[in-house]
Amino acid sequence: MHVTLLSGPNLDLLGTREPEVYGTDALVDHVRRAAAVAESHGWTLDHFQTNSEGALVDAVHDARGRADAIVVNAGALTHTSWSLHDALAAFSGVVVELHLSNPAAREPFRHTSVVAPVADGLVAGMGGIGYELAIEAAVRLADARAGTGARAGSRPRARARPRAGAQAATPAREDLFDEEEP
Ligand code: DQA
Repeated sequence: MHVTLLSGPNLDLLGTREPEVYGTDALVDHVRRAAAVAESHGWTLDHFQTNSEGALVDAVHDARGRADAIVVNAGALTHTSWSLHDALAAFSGVVVELHLSNPAAREPFRHTSVVAPVADGLVAGMGGIGYELAIEAAVRLADARAGTGARAGSRPRARARPRAGAQAATPAREDLFDEEEP
């Protein structure tokens, strides 16, 4: 199984960019620890960083049919990029939105995420451990859906996640919690 980790604009400056907000680790440090988490689950990981919206959309397209999950820290494109939203909507694997900071606790323009409606879940505000937590979440969610995770002995289920705008709960609760059949 494979996860694609995507980093958007200005994340190449991590380590020197507003360290009081984003910490002192460089992007390469986050990616190294993220890859170790993926590897510990028998997964492979590739990472791509770009400051360009189109390149980020292309990277999502490239993950189609190749990756089982995408973890994306889209930087400020999180708040504006409907083309990224649409690209992620066309990706059928697990999508985890990631932020080092907690945008909901910051300036109002960061309170809207156009990624959120097409993401399975969100890791935000966890600082330096956020990348690891997001990969762990993506891998375990995808493994659970595929029936290959820690609960592989339990009943595998078809993926039932509706996409953008859908109202049904995502993901299936039974895939995440140990619940006995009634
Ligand atoms: C960020 C939060 C965004 O609002 C901001 O534009 C970033 C980084 C984060 O990781 O906390 O570039 O995605």
